[in-house]
Amino acid sequence: MSERIYGIDMGTNSIKIYQKETGVVFHQKNMIAIVNKKEALAIGDEAYSMYEKAPKNIQVKQPIVYGVIADFTAMQTMIEIIFKGGRRARNVMNGLESLSVNSNSEFYIAVPSDVTEVEKRAFYDLIASSSLRTKKVHLVDKPIADALGAGLDVMDATGRLIVNIGSDTTEISLISLGGIVQSRLLKVGGTKFDEAIQQAVKKKHNLVIGMKSAERLKVQLATGIKEDEERTADVMGRNLITGLPNRVTVTNHLIFEAMEESMSSIVDAVKFILEKTPPELSMDIMHDGVCVTGASSYVKNLDQLIQQETGLKIMKMDEPELTVVKGLGMIMENPAYERLANALQESSYQ
Ligand SMILES: Nc1ncnc2c1ncn2[C@@H]1O[C@H](COP(=O)(O)OP(=O)(O)OP(=O)(O)O)[C@@H](O)[C@H]1O
Ligand SMILES: [Mg+2]
Repeated sequence: MSERIYGIDMGTNSIKIYQKETGVVFHQKNMIAIVNKKEALAIGDEAYSMYEKAPKNIQVKQPIVYGVIADFTAMQTMIEIIFKGGRRARNVMNGLESLSVNSNSEFYIAVPSDVTEVEKRAFYDLIASSSLRTKKVHLVDKPIADALGAGLDVMDATGRLIVNIGSDTTEISLISLGGIVQSRLLKVGGTKFDEAIQQAVKKKHNLVIGMKSAERLKVQLATGIKEDEERTADVMGRNLITGLPNRVTVTNHLIFEAMEESMSSIVDAVKFILEKTPPELSMDIMHDGVCVTGASSYVKNLDQLIQQETGLKIMKMDEPELTVVKGLGMIMENPAYERLANALQESSYQ
C-alpha cells in the first residue's frame, strides 16, 4: 500500500496534491462554496462552476490570494474535507475520492519565498491547528520545488533562474546550491490578464463580461508578441447602454493590447532580478537560460517575448502548472533532497 505522505501546492487558482509513490492525485480549483455562512456546499471545480452564478446565501470563496492564505478558515475547511473523508465530506466532494491520512502521515507544503514569516507560518498552522490527526508538516520553498519539478539540478553550484507565471502572482527566483539567492513575488499573472481583457472589452464594445468569459478569450486569443494575422472569438455579455445580453466578436489585437502592460511588468521584473544577479551566477544563466513554469506560461509566445527582451534562452515545460507539486514529490521520495524541506514539529513554531 502506498504511504500516506502528501505534497500540497495551494495555488491561488488551483490546489494540486501529490501522494508519495502514487503521483498527482488531486488537481482542482482552489475554491469552496459555503451556504448560509457556515456549511460547506462544494469544493474545487464544482465550487468554481457556482462562481459568478450563486444566489446571495451561497458564498464562493477563494481562500488563497496573491499566493498567501487570505481566508484561513475557508482553506482549513477545504483541507479537512479533502483529507478526512466521512459521509458529510463525501457529499461536498461530489464524487471525488477523499485522500485519507493516518497518524504516520506527513505533509510537504510549498510556500512562496518572498512573503513574511507570519504568512509562511500560516501554512504550517493550517495543518497543525486542523482536526487532522497528522501534525508533521514540512515547509518547502516553492521556487525550489518548482525548479526540481522542472528538471533542474538545484543542488549544484550553478545559478538557475526560474519564472513561475501563475494566476495572481509571478514568482521569479534565482537558485543555487539548494537555496534561494534572490526571489521576487510580483502581483501579476493570469488574473491580471483576465481583468485587463474585461476592461478592454467594456471600453471597446460597451460590453460587460464575466471573469470566466475573459479567461476564455485569453485562452483562445492571447499572444506574447503582436501577431500580423487577425484571429477572432465571440463573447457574450451585457450591453452597457441597452442593458441587454449581447454577443460581440473580439480580435487577438484587442487582447494583445489589453495584456501588453501586465506582460511588460513581468519582463521588467525578470530584468530587475538579472541586474541584481552576482556575475558568476549570471554566467550560468547566460549559458543555460531561464525556465518558465506556471499555467500562464501557456500563453502563446509569452516565452518568445521574454526571450526577445532579455536575450536569454527559454526552457518551457509540458505541464507547467504541475512543476511545483511534482518537485514536492521528488523531495519526499528522494533522501538526497531531504535538506530542502524544513520539518516543523509543533514545538519549533511556538
Ligand atoms: N491555455 C492557457 N492559456 C493562457 N492562460 C492559461 C491557460 N491555462 C491556464 N491559464 C491560466 O493560468 C492561471 C493558473 O495558473 P496556475 O495553475 O499556475 O496558478 P496557481 O498556481 O493556482 O496560482 P499562483 O501560483 O498565482 O498562486 C490562470 O490564470 C489561468 O487562466
Ligand atoms: Mg502556482
